Amino acid sequence: MKKVVIASDHGAVTLKSKIISFLKTSGYEIRDMGVHTEDSVDYPDLAVLTCNEFKTGGYDFGILLCGTGIGMSITANKIAGIRCAQIFDLFTAEMAKAHNNANFIVFGGRVQYSVPVGEMIEKFANTSFMGERHERRVAKIMGVEKSKC
Ligand code: RB5
Repeated sequence: MKKVVIASDHGAVTLKSKIISFLKTSGYEIRDMGVHTEDSVDYPDLAVLTCNEFKTGGYDFGILLCGTGIGMSITANKIAGIRCAQIFDLFTAEMAKAHNNANFIVFGGRVQYSVPVGEMIEKFANTSFMGERHERRVAKIMGVEKSKC
């Protein structure tokens, strides 16, 4: 069974509930890190909490949600070991895994998508990392976080 950790800020509570229902129906085990109301919160707090939970191990990938997806992805990509991709369609869902080996994906609760978010998640989850030249490039990404640039 695939295990996923998920969180949203107040801008995507409804989308988070829909995703959780979809993933549970599809047989995923879900760890929901919040939030559960539309009271205003600061998305970096949720991103850090959720990425740190992911790093305790046992998760296949993580999902972060905010109004646009932008703030969550900026924050998550500053956390060591996290490769967080904003997904827009089935193509970016596939490439995020095949080329970038992302371990987090992001959606926006206030964004209009042309494809159901559940389909994009399934595409990401069912795609394999291609390795080879992409292994070298992902290694370079991870090297950047160890460098002083
Ligand atoms: C919150 O109003 C909003 O800024 C947040 O959900 C997100 O869109 C930030 O990138």
